[in-house]
Amino acid sequence: MIVNLSEQHSLVGTWVGELRDVDIQKDRMRFRRNLERIAEVAAYEISKKLPWQVREVQTPLGTATSNVLQQQPVLATILRAGLPMHQGLLNYFDQADNAFISAYRKHNKDGSFEISLEYVSCPDLDDRIIIISDPMLATGSSLVKTIHFLKQEGQAREIHIVAAIACTVGIEYVKREEPSVKIWCGDIDDELTAKGYIVPGLGDAGDLAYGTKLQM
Ligand code: URA
Repeated sequence: MIVNLSEQHSLVGTWVGELRDVDIQKDRMRFRRNLERIAEVAAYEISKKLPWQVREVQTPLGTATSNVLQQQPVLATILRAGLPMHQGLLNYFDQADNAFISAYRKHNKDGSFEISLEYVSCPDLDDRIIIISDPMLATGSSLVKTIHFLKQEGQAREIHIVAAIACTVGIEYVKREEPSVKIWCGDIDDELTAKGYIVPGLGDAGDLAYGTKLQM
């Protein structure tokens, strides 16, 4: 299942447009905040699909019923570009457990790259609902590698991916490797460069959010 959150005209489309805009994206705080609020909308939409239970609430004047999640999700993110979207998810799923994964592109001299997965911190994932945030679903290889790793830490009940922009090639790859995963994205682009950048995309999400880094 794939949900494009800007399929219907809404503020999400405006925020994705601001992420893409070469002038507006120079404002790092706005860039991070736009990623965060796209994730907030995704959290709200995902919440409609989660299992709920009814609880009685005592008000000053009587009793009412309200819904509470049957279980808290585990919010997982891929460092460092995933952090603003992770925060957006956490703003809504404010009692969630959290997992952090460092997966990065280790570049070879010929321009190709492999995904290197290093630091991982996560809770027991047995029977948990996992929501993984990564702003750019490009080739899909870091997400699939992350999912394979997380699956070793327990048999998750369901897995969701939240991305700002997803590329059709990456979506197809994730669907092939992990057919049960649900993808929620701010928009979908069709092109991917040989170096794994989404076109038109927005550029390097990590650099735009946090500044350039040395190439390791
Ligand atoms: N990561 C990015 O930051 N941008 C892309 O276009 C692809 C992967």
